[in-house]
Amino acid sequence: MKTIVFANPKGGVGKSTIAALFVEWCDHNNISVKTVDGDPNQTFNTWCLYRAKEGRPIPEVKGTTELTIVDTAGTSNSALSWLNKADLVITPFKPNFADLDLTVQWFQTLNSSLQSKLLFVPNMTGQASEHVYGMDEIEKITTETGYGVVLSKYALKNRDAVYPEVLKGLPNNFFALGSKFKNAQTEFSALAKAILKHGNKLAQA
Ligand SMILES: Nc1ncnc2c1ncn2[C@@H]1O[C@H](COP(=O)(O)OP(=O)(O)O)[C@@H](O)[C@H]1O
Ligand SMILES: [Mg+2]
Repeated sequence: MKTIVFANPKGGVGKSTIAALFVEWCDHNNISVKTVDGDPNQTFNTWCLYRAKEGRPIPEVKGTTELTIVDTAGTSNSALSWLNKADLVITPFKPNFADLDLTVQWFQTLNSSLQSKLLFVPNMTGQASEHVYGMDEIEKITTETGYGVVLSKYALKNRDAVYPEVLKGLPNNFFALGSKFKNAQTEFSALAKAILKHGNKLAQA
């Protein structure tokens, strides 16, 4: 069983949204998952409840769960204990000036074994000059430490009409929704595949 932990002490970078979308994607692709919410605010658990209320509970797993998806707040004790169990750490970040310091400082406090399991995912990208600055900053820190990967080709765009819908609990699977969601579905599917590919690569190393 593989454990994927979403972490970044910076709030509002998309951890819960991307964790939820990843669960939706797994569901859509018949990959069995278990969900764990390590954030005291319980955003992820609440989303699971909303889903269940829409008639879409997380499917009961028969046999072995393929993936355990853990959302965290990044700094709490429970986040740290989940990080120590992680096979893969997903760190969404907003590539802009104001948001990166905390993320970079936190990354530097992690041991190299954890750093080597970490994938940075650019989220809510859009503004040109800030974007370049933010991407450079994260690329620099992974190059300097020699650990961590930036999934720069799989950034999620800022899509105010689409992504904020997710945590409200959709009546249907996100990947089965109509044309308004097409670009986001394509964008996220590519990211999800990249995440699994990196996970498999790490497992083989
Ligand atoms: N790519 C995106 N485009 C637009 N809004 C987004 C995007 N990703 C996340 N959001 C919104 O940003 C807010 C914070 O996201 P959330 O997943 O709760 O962050 P975190 O869990 O890191 O605190 C939410 O309102 C969410 O809907
Ligand atoms: Mg959250």
